[in-house]
Amino acid sequence: EDPAHGGHTPTTFQESKTFSGTKPEIVPWTRPMPVPPVLRPVVSTAKQEVYRLSIERTTAEILPGLQSPVMGYGGQFVGPTIKAKTGRKTLLLVHNKMDEAANVHLHGGHVSPEHDGHPRDLVEPGRTRLYLYPNSQQGATLWYHDHSHGTEAAHVYLGLHGAYVVEDDSERHLNLPSGAYDVPIMLRDIQFDDSGNIVVFDDPAKRTVVLANGVPQPYFEVAARKYRFRIINTATQRVFQLRLTGGQVTRIGSDGGLYAAPVEAEEVVLSSGERADVVIDFSKYPVGSRVTLTDSVAGEVLRFDVVRRASDPSRVPAVLRPLPALPPSTVDREVDLFYVFKPNERPDGVINGKVFEMDRVDFTIKRGTTETWLVKSSDPAGVKHNFHLHLVQFRVLERNGGPPLPNDAGLKDTISVAAGETVKVQATFTGYTGRYVYHCHFLEHSWIGMMAQLEIVP
Ligand code: C2O
Ligand code: CU
Repeated sequence: EDPAHGGHTPTTFQESKTFSGTKPEIVPWTRPMPVPPVLRPVVSTAKQEVYRLSIERTTAEILPGLQSPVMGYGGQFVGPTIKAKTGRKTLLLVHNKMDEAANVHLHGGHVSPEHDGHPRDLVEPGRTRLYLYPNSQQGATLWYHDHSHGTEAAHVYLGLHGAYVVEDDSERHLNLPSGAYDVPIMLRDIQFDDSGNIVVFDDPAKRTVVLANGVPQPYFEVAARKYRFRIINTATQRVFQLRLTGGQVTRIGSDGGLYAAPVEAEEVVLSSGERADVVIDFSKYPVGSRVTLTDSVAGEVLRFDVVRRASDPSRVPAVLRPLPALPPSTVDREVDLFYVFKPNERPDGVINGKVFEMDRVDFTIKRGTTETWLVKSSDPAGVKHNFHLHLVQFRVLERNGGPPLPNDAGLKDTISVAAGETVKVQATFTGYTGRYVYHCHFLEHSWIGMMAQLEIVP
């Protein structure tokens, strides 16, 4: 059990207390996995695309026959997918129709501080805010989610998240599976009470229902060919350990884009916020086969039903895209994420001993500098944490004094850091000056203070 929740009264999302009967049973494999619709621009030119996106309270049928009150970008649980192209700007006009403040952060995005969705930059109820994303980075699977101070955990848990896919021309030329064969899968967990009401902020271990794009244990019909799946862990506090029954997946990328070369993987491990870009080749299964994605804790999560044959012009080239060179690092820092316990009170989450303060700068960084950070957790309760850095992608150099784990490969913005672990990462702070946060992406931890702030100066 996570001590932040121990002895804490579980909060039930108030409006959802409408349900007083018996929780409907989830019958696995009875509903298809939805593919979130791609958001349509209101204006589209070669240089920029303009979108409108609402933040709303809405309902979603998560348990069969019950419309659960949730929150959704565009009124959808999960939000629409935003497709961007390297070199073409995205202008996102976000209108908050809710009765409380919220905002949008582009996770993994290289954006200026005023558009980053800093916890202080809120979209108040009834207001509209413009976010500008330059999309100067290479192709990558990003995602957008709420980052409002003190409410991010509840908002993301209740549905404020969606996929943001950056595509670039050089990636297109690789001829990886694309179009209908390139599918985002957002995985998250959720807890219901005995009547089927959504429970917020109980022990995360009780979140036994896992949703794929908002639906528990869905099936997904596929043709016997290659698919690219962009798996995003959108759970507020969870590590997924995923396997495919009877087969491997080909991992082609991570948080910040493609690997240098594809890697065959038995297992994909993702902590909250991390992404895995994988290709699964269903041509090796006869039509009629069922292939299941399982999690080590939750069990069966999603079933792929191979329903038809198909021709497949796509490929997975042996060479994808070289990673950028690692410039020499000139600054060393240490980041320690842990709990501080207090008698009869909820613990604090801290970084280097301090609870997050919006007006305090913890690290001052000269723009353009390459730095090495030793990210660790000396958590006294042995709790798992993770680490997310805004603005730039980093590389994992070492884990626990040895080589990085397979899951640490490639360009990363989020990594898992369990108690007692040390992870050495290297980042180059290019582009913008200003203030950005870094934090544990277990949002119930960042919410109670496990977040800090850096300032990049000229
Ligand atoms: Cu995905 Cu600071 O967030
Ligand atoms: Cu944490």
